[in-house]
Amino acid sequence: MSEMKIMKLMGKTSYHCIHGDVDFTKKEFYETCGFKLEIGVNPVSELGFGTIVWEAALGLCQYFEKEGIRFSNKKVIELGAGTGIVSILAALLGGDVTITDKPKLLNQIERNVSFNIPSSFKLQVKVRALRWGRDHPLFPSDYDYILGSDILYFPQNIPLILETLLHLSNEKTIVYFASTMFYSPKLISQAYLTLSQYFETELVCRCEVKDVNIYRMTDKTPTTTSPQFIE
Ligand SMILES: C[S@@+](CC[C@H](N)C(=O)[O-])C[C@H]1O[C@@H](n2cnc3c(N)ncnc32)[C@H](O)[C@@H]1O
Repeated sequence: MSEMKIMKLMGKTSYHCIHGDVDFTKKEFYETCGFKLEIGVNPVSELGFGTIVWEAALGLCQYFEKEGIRFSNKKVIELGAGTGIVSILAALLGGDVTITDKPKLLNQIERNVSFNIPSSFKLQVKVRALRWGRDHPLFPSDYDYILGSDILYFPQNIPLILETLLHLSNEKTIVYFASTMFYSPKLISQAYLTLSQYFETELVCRCEVKDVNIYRMTDKTPTTTSPQFIE
């Protein structure tokens, strides 16, 4: 078990408003790991929670920078990617990345990919629908990394995310999940407790100002035959 680190969360370097774009009302700019990221967002979109960059996404990006994490020749999948910022960074850091979310979010992700990923990298990035607990059988189980930020917020989703994680992962997979704890400290802690029955779960980093926790999870032999959800 490694020592839990503390970090400061990165913020956007600038933004500008966009008029007349069907998907985005703003473009936000971020700098991390030596890359400048350009992310279209739409805080007033009717598409749900995935149209802004959540703090936990910034936490994962910052963690990759702080720890010097690279994804060269690694297969990476992200669940509930929202704007796609984390996956876009993982692709720029060398990963063969599958970015997933609900079908209605895929167009904005595609556009954000096109703002950031040079055409020579395009084969490294796939954007696919993956609804938790529903579409996961369509995906393989050979990912090196599974990423997720601010996705553990509705109790009914936790068993679906667990089922999806168990399908996508193998004994070598590393899962990095980040959560902004103040949104629902009790629920989110319980979600990690449930996941910890199936994965060795370690709090590896924390941004205290924004209450963002980064967890690293790896394979663990189950202690029970069927999932036990902790209420
Ligand atoms: C709070 S947002 C976080 C977005 C992004 N990960 C971030 O941190 O900026 C939660 C994301 O999970 C996605 N989501 C919610 N329910 C889902 C489901 N059942 N299957 C797949 N994705 C889902 C939403 O569309 C949204 O993009």
